[in-house]
Amino acid sequence: MIDVKSIREDFPILKREINGYPLVYLDNAATSQTPKQVIDTIVDYYSNYNANIHRGVHTLSQEATDKYEMARKTIQKHFNAKHSYEILFTSGTTHGINLVASGFAALLKPGDELLVSAMEHHSNIVPWQMLCEKTGAVLKVIPMNEEGDLVMDSYKALLNDKTKLVFCNHISNALGSINPVEEIIAGAHAVGAAVLIDGAQACPHLKADVQALDVDFYTVSAHKMCGPTGVGVLYGKEEWLRKLPPYQGGGEMIAEVSFEKTTYADLPHKFEAGTPNICGGIAFGAAVDYLNGIGMDAIAAYEQELLQYATGKLLEIPGVRIFGTSANKTSVISFNIEGIHPYDIGAILDKLGVAVRTGHHCAQPIMDYYKIPGTVRASFAFYNTREEVDTFIEAVKRARNMLL
Ligand code: ALA
Repeated sequence: MIDVKSIREDFPILKREINGYPLVYLDNAATSQTPKQVIDTIVDYYSNYNANIHRGVHTLSQEATDKYEMARKTIQKHFNAKHSYEILFTSGTTHGINLVASGFAALLKPGDELLVSAMEHHSNIVPWQMLCEKTGAVLKVIPMNEEGDLVMDSYKALLNDKTKLVFCNHISNALGSINPVEEIIAGAHAVGAAVLIDGAQACPHLKADVQALDVDFYTVSAHKMCGPTGVGVLYGKEEWLRKLPPYQGGGEMIAEVSFEKTTYADLPHKFEAGTPNICGGIAFGAAVDYLNGIGMDAIAAYEQELLQYATGKLLEIPGVRIFGTSANKTSVISFNIEGIHPYDIGAILDKLGVAVRTGHHCAQPIMDYYKIPGTVRASFAFYNTREEVDTFIEAVKRARNMLL
């Protein structure tokens, strides 16, 4: 059981008022809030050892390098990667996906097939469409059903010896569905295809074990898991990272440069051109330590309680329809109220201090599937409380009364 009251003391922003009301922050799927342990790490970096890494003989550079590489190891351990050099620092999940998509341009031929799930974020659709345009590969879609579960029989029927890559999110940002990634990975491997899992929405709720999953690529963003924006990691299996060409050229990713020939640095630096987000990487490590201090299992259990409680209360409100009713889902509730535009509900909730996201959540194909313009999305974190759920429910009732 987690001690939410003391956890909330770690998050200065939770003391804010919005429009005269205490902030109820339920937009955690867009970005999580930042505990003071992470904020202190950022302040410490810029106050005491700000320097470029892997380059200087001077003390500050060495300190910064050590902390950055320690953070890589912390993240390696968290996701149970076999080697720390299989953890590439990126600017976030989108960067990780684009890195892999760009690398595969050299490995695909016309007629190869790529499978994408129907419930992807645009960042796990568009880079692959661009790759198909470049290579002549064909993008096929694994369908979903009304509950927001993938249709696994259709997935199996789509797999064949032309399938080269499968990509899917671990948890849907718009619906909260937890996808059966073990089955997806095993199916793809049986036909020799590689798998990329977008873990952006899973990383705040569960600890993915990349070796147990046997996944080829797994990508996350720090800001979804109490770290800063603008930094993330891509896990890649060593054999794939050795096979893929570098994503960007520049400093740091080279072994030797001459005008005749350049050779590349070893992993992970081959994929880390330019000065990275040093402070962000170190703070990401602090965020991982913070979450593990609470315990990912305890976080998941508590968030499930909040999800069940909020879902029950919301369904008591007339006209509410929840999108994403999978038996296997995390603490995200996407909903609409009959006859009201989601944006109008979101705007009134904000006036009452409740932060939610409205719109298509960067997942327009899901909205097309349900034939809706968008939803209101309330997403809960381990620092939210039952009292906040009650405030949210009362605010939704008030919005409904005002708008109908
Ligand atoms: N992908 C983020 C969300 O779901 C921004 O809101």
